[in-house]
Formats: sequence, C-alpha cells, structure tokens
Amino acid sequence: MCGIVGYIGGEEAAPILLRGLQKLEYRGYDSAGIAVLGEAGLKVCKSKGRLAALEEKIALENASALPGAARGTLSLEGTMGLGHTRWATHGEPSDVNSHPHTDVSGKIAVVHNGIIENHAKLRAWLKDHGVAFRSETDTEVIAHLIDFHYNGDLLRAVMETIQRLEGSYALGIICENEPDRIIAVRRESPLVAGAAAGSSFIASDVPALLEHTRDVYYLDDREIAVLFRDRIEFYNDEGQPVLKETARVSWDAAEAEKGGYEHFMLKEIHEQPRALVDTLRPRIRNEESTDGSAPFRSINLEEIGFDSSWAGAGRVVIAACGTAWHAGVVGKYAFEHYVRIPVEVDVASEFRYRNPVLDPANPGGDIFIIISQSGETADTLAAMRMAKKKGARIVAITNVVGSTLAREADLVMYTWAGPEIAVASTKAFTTQLMCLYLMAVRLGFLRGTLDGEASAAAIEAMEKIPQAAEKILSEKEKIQRFASRQFNKTKVFYMGRLFDYAVSMESALKLKEVSYIHSEAFAAGELKHGPIALVDQHTLVTAICTQSRLFDKMDSNIKEIKARGGTAAVITYEDVTAFDETADEIFRIPRTDESLSPLLSVIPSQLYAYYCSVLRGLDPDRPRNLAKSVTVE
Ligand code: AGP
Repeated sequence: MCGIVGYIGGEEAAPILLRGLQKLEYRGYDSAGIAVLGEAGLKVCKSKGRLAALEEKIALENASALPGAARGTLSLEGTMGLGHTRWATHGEPSDVNSHPHTDVSGKIAVVHNGIIENHAKLRAWLKDHGVAFRSETDTEVIAHLIDFHYNGDLLRAVMETIQRLEGSYALGIICENEPDRIIAVRRESPLVAGAAAGSSFIASDVPALLEHTRDVYYLDDREIAVLFRDRIEFYNDEGQPVLKETARVSWDAAEAEKGGYEHFMLKEIHEQPRALVDTLRPRIRNEESTDGSAPFRSINLEEIGFDSSWAGAGRVVIAACGTAWHAGVVGKYAFEHYVRIPVEVDVASEFRYRNPVLDPANPGGDIFIIISQSGETADTLAAMRMAKKKGARIVAITNVVGSTLAREADLVMYTWAGPEIAVASTKAFTTQLMCLYLMAVRLGFLRGTLDGEASAAAIEAMEKIPQAAEKILSEKEKIQRFASRQFNKTKVFYMGRLFDYAVSMESALKLKEVSYIHSEAFAAGELKHGPIALVDQHTLVTAICTQSRLFDKMDSNIKEIKARGGTAAVITYEDVTAFDETADEIFRIPRTDESLSPLLSVIPSQLYAYYCSVLRGLDPDRPRNLAKSVTVE
C-alpha cells in the first residue's frame, strides 16, 4: 500500500504536498517523492527512507540554489504537484524506484498506489518501441504509456492508457503541457478528492485533506477526476461526465493528530472507551413493552437494514485478514453462544481461493460478514466479491465511511472508532468486536434464542464495558513495569481457551508487529501437543483466563510452563484467586459477562506490545515491512 496526494491551487505546492504525505505515511514509509510543476517546468525530488529524508533532500536542494534566486529558478517551485509515500512491491526501496515516475522526456509525472499485474508484458512492448526504463517498478510503464498515447489531450491519453492496465491503481498524473489540471483515476485502490477556495486536492485517504476541507468526493471504481484550480470534473472511463456529491467527514483534523500522546498507538489504545461508546450507544434504544411491564433496552440495527428479514439465515460465514480476522474468530464464539447458529470463519486470503460452499438456496441462506478496518484490503474485497457472486447477503463491518467495502456490501455497520493511524490495529479491533456482539445479540433476540430479559442483560453488560476499559487503562503502569522487566524475552507465547484463544492470537500478532519479538498463540489445550517443547527459562507465556469453567485446566497449563522454567503471566478478572499461587504476574480486568471478555482482556496485551516496542527503541506506529492496509495481494 502506498499513499498519494495531489494539489493544484495558488500556493506553493511542495509544503502542502509534504504535509499531506505526513498524514499518509502510515500507508507506506520506505521512500517518498514529490513532483511540482511551475514556471521552470516539471521538477521531481525523491528519496529512499522516511519522509524526513525527502524533506532534508528538498531543503538541501533549495539551499544550494543561488542566493536571491528569482522565482522559477529554485528547485520545486510551482503551484501544482503530486506526492507519494511508498511501500515497495516491485523493486527494492531506492531513490530511483520511488515515485513519482516520469516518461522519457520528463514532461509527464505519475504517482500510483496499487499493482499493475500485466506490467511485464507492457514493459516488453514499450521496450520494443524504444523506451529505456529507469526503475524496476510496475508504475513506470504507466508514465511511458501515457506519453505514447499523448497527442495534446492528457485526459484522452489517460483514458487510453487505463484500457491497457490490468490490476489495481489509484493514479495522479500531471503533464508539463497542461499546467491547469491534475488527472486522477482509480480502480480497486482508494482515492478521495476535495476542493477548497481556489484549490483542488486528491489523496489516498481523508486525513490528508482535512486541513483543507471536510467535504470530500469518494471516487468510484474506474472513475476519473480532472482537478482544476476552481473546480473538479468527474468522468467515467468512457469519458462521459459523472455527477458526484460530496460526503461530509464527521471527524476533524485534530482527531488525526497525536493529541499529546507520544505515539498514535498509545493514543488509539486510550481512545477505546470513547470509541466503544460511540459504536454502541447509537444502536441501543428503550423499548416499550407490549404487556404493560417496564420498558426494556434493545438493540436497534434496523436503520442499517439489519431487520427481521435476516433472522431466517441458516449459517453465518465470516472472512477478514489479520486483526479483523481475530475479531471474526471472537465473532464465531459469540454467534454460537447467543444465536446457536452454525458459524464458519476464515482468513480472506484462504477463503477467496477455496471453493467454499455458499448456497443461497440453503434454508434461510448465509449471512456473510466481512470485516475490515480500512475497507480496502485486497484479499478481503476479493472474498466479499466472491461471496456476493455466490448469492450470499453481505454485511460489512468497517471503520472507513465510503470505503470500497462499505460501498459494495449489502449492509454496512460502521465501527465509530475515528481514524486509526497506527499500523497496529487496536481501537478498530475492540469496536469490531462490539459490532459483532451487537449483531449476535440482536440476531439471537430475533430468532428467539435470547428472550427480552437475556437480551437486556447482555446489553447492560455491554454498556459497562467502556468504563471497565477505562479502569484497565488507568492501571497501565503495572503493565509498563512488567514490560520493562520482560522486554528482552524473545520467546513469547499467549495461550487461552475459547474466547481467550482468539484474544491470544490477537495479542501475539500485536506483540510481533510492533516489537519484532517472536510471539505465537496456541489454544491452551494444545500445549502438550507441541508448543511445550519450546518452553524453557527464556520463555514468557501469558495465559488469558476469563472462562471460569476452564480455570482448572488453565491452571494446570500454567503449572506445566512453570515446571519447565518458563515465566507465566495471567490476565484474569479482579476477583479471581485461582492463579494466585501459580502465576508470576497477574493483570486484572473488571468482571464482565464471560462472553464479552475479549473487549477487555485484549487491552493489557495491546499495552504490553506498545511498551515492549518503545523499550526496544522502535517506532510502534510504523513497524518495519508493514503498511496500514494491504491493498495488494
Ligand atoms: C493489525 O494490527 C494489522 N496491521 C493487520 O493485521 C490488519 O488488521 C489487516 O491487514 C487487516 O486490515 P483491515 O482491517 O484494514 O482489512
């Protein structure tokens, strides 16, 4: 995944592009570049490494220009341009592989997010036509193809070029001969546009635009935007004008800032109580009883379209990637518990290449739940499209309004978590869980597996979660102290049973992502079937213990770890004494309905991962080799 920005207006473009890229650096950060078009023509500056390296390079180039140089002679002067922050797919991170890429004459510049699948064929064809390539990227073919088709009309050249591209792309294109416009186009990679007085913008994601406007246009697949200084025109890929409406972004620029926290990850961990309230509260209502008894609390999902017509489903199928898949695993246990319905859950990259049995003719059909923070993950989108083709009814759980997932699903349930910038997902996970619980309890009520009283009790327990999360966060120093003693342990396991196994998987992922510590999760019952061979005095095992009927089993597992010299930590409720004698350290969470425990038990693990990352001198917001959302396979 990469981030692209574009600006055309009356001010110097370079600082605006760099500020936009800062907001998108979470999308990729192994190299960056900008192209600016001004009186001196098209100028490009790019650099391997983080954005700071590019900023330094630009500052150096400007400093080396002649003192008092006239406008138009400094490098990178101009009031329109493109920017890019890269996560390498084709070609290693290097100056030359960084975007923007230009055609042979250097008059056309292109930034790209996505993958051109037929780039090798196009490269060979262009070489046969005399083009000399500079980089190893798939993107460079686009610049040369546009040049090949260009005869004075950039829009036409872009339209002819995209006919020849296979794969995914969000593109920004400028041409020296047409200094009044930027062309942007997307297919399967996100792109938003926005306008403010006398200027127009494009970006891969909303945070890059918020400084300028909160009214944005989400481009649909194969739509083209032509950005002028005073307006934006939209076309379909056949060149016919398209009328588009703006969407108002409900959060502001401040929410996409660190707000006093050292890192976005810590800020987002702390935002969970509020995010959970925002995700839960609008969906709870007071309902009058029909028999004259007291009003009761119920879940209202009708406004998103989840009405009684969904109640007859024969099965629930869930697909997602990474953290969102872990949420799906919790969802499986929740649906089985509250609804007593068969549930299948799979990682989207497996699901899409299986031959899954989805049969709308089954009594009631399948509810297909697809989960994605970004709503743009390539495998997740492919899984959804396959399920849709096979006739399943699709419910999307996503955090990004207007994302591809949101637009293509039959029904959307938003996680009102606000922007999640840190690469490691935290508040998106817990709000995804909240959405799944809301859906499970509602479906259980609609199908009669939960009566009004049981449903109201579940709702009451859900309403207590945000405050309980707050309490865990208020005791974070204990986890910080533990991390400062343990962060050098490089063999870390999480184990649990049922809901706790799902949280173990998420905990291990969090730790490996941000601290680079090798961590794995296993179902505690599997300990003796293999993992125990790895346990020695260098091993830390955290046991997540929130399912009281299995406490004895967990305690035996902990003893087995201790007997082999391992260190054992436990995450359990504040009133549990079952592990007092065995565990080396106990992190206590407030007591809750045991089926809802993942909403709380994951928080200590998130904090542990964060502190280990910081203690190891790493940047938890931007772990190596990762990108916030994986929009390519
Ligand atoms: C989470 O910490 C990870 N960065 C990653 O596993 C992520 O959850 C996964 O790539 C799915 O992303 P999505 O929710 O945007 O689809």
